Amino acid sequence: MANGNGCGLAAVDEASSGLASASELAAVSVEAGDCFVATPEVRRLAERALVYLNAGYPVHFSGPAGTGKTTLALHVAALRGRPVSLMHGDDEFGSSDLVGGEYGYRKSKLVDNFIHSVLRTEETMNTLWADNRLTLACKTGDTLVYDEFTRSRPEANNALLSVLEERLLTVPTRRGGDGFLEVHPEFRAIFTSNPEEYAGVHRTQDALVDRFITIRIEHYDRETEVEITRAKGGIGRDEAEVIVDIVRDLRRMRVSKQGPSLRASIMIGRVMSQEGAHPRQGDAFFGEICRDVLGGLTAKITRDGERGITSTVDEVVAKHLKEERRDKKRRPFSEVAVARKGG
Ligand SMILES: Nc1ncnc2c1ncn2[C@@H]1O[C@H](COP(=O)(O)OP(=O)(O)O)[C@@H](O)[C@H]1O
Ligand SMILES: [Mg+2]
Repeated sequence: MANGNGCGLAAVDEASSGLASASELAAVSVEAGDCFVATPEVRRLAERALVYLNAGYPVHFSGPAGTGKTTLALHVAALRGRPVSLMHGDDEFGSSDLVGGEYGYRKSKLVDNFIHSVLRTEETMNTLWADNRLTLACKTGDTLVYDEFTRSRPEANNALLSVLEERLLTVPTRRGGDGFLEVHPEFRAIFTSNPEEYAGVHRTQDALVDRFITIRIEHYDRETEVEITRAKGGIGRDEAEVIVDIVRDLRRMRVSKQGPSLRASIMIGRVMSQEGAHPRQGDAFFGEICRDVLGGLTAKITRDGERGITSTVDEVVAKHLKEERRDKKRRPFSEVAVARKGG
């Protein structure tokens, strides 16, 4: 998928379906795109994850929605330079969705019409085994990115236990027993999850969590959020700063359970650049976008609450636009630009 300013997120979107069909199973190739923002904070996280992977441990990025976990997982996977397989957790998954299963059958028909008056046909049917993503990744030594793995039921994820511990994958055999597949030495796995979902939905994934190194991901620092909003929203740095400051303020005020994320900043930025709107006093559209994107976060709460959040958003937006105006008055734009170039 490409957005208006040519940022590619191909790998994230290409393999987004839950159960992969056989033709879909080819590993996605992930390359660090032009729009991947690597500030010191992002780089530090990526380097740490890479060290753990090199030491043979699976890595788990755990954090609230919109903190950049999936993007980081794909980036780290790409840094390993091996093919990348992407899988998304799904409540409907069974173990065959990870390992593989008998998905279809081959029918062969023999028609014997040697004697005109006699037609003899013979049909045989064989079931066809199709490997799924985990099996393929284990065979070819891919880096598996298992996004939101806690959304799958623990039973479906069981196959991973022996893969991570004994480096053996259990696969059912034709005769109904179990066979083993030795995992390729280069196979590594990166998991992501949101602890909110983990706590509420699938408590018994602990055995799995024990086997990997978990890196807690919080919302990025201001600098990283500004850079990502600028790059992904296709807007200027000054504008990205105003948006990010508004979003971070509302997050601090805990207007919703996990707070507005980076995703909200990018959303506002993108709509603004599309419409040529600007975060400045007198631009009514900017306030409206903020109200829709940020006020919508609490759409689930009561009417009174909704009215509350709308006016909170309005107040925070007005405060930041006022500050922005004051800053601009103090320093003319050209000066701001020069100062930025210098540092
Ligand atoms: N380092 C980064 N560089 C560029 N864009 C990023 C980066 N990290 C996150 N993003 C963007 O921020 C948004 C949220 O990131 P995502 O990885 O989907 O978060 P999560 O998986 O934690 O919900 C996405 O639009 C993504 O493209
Ligand atoms: Mg994600």
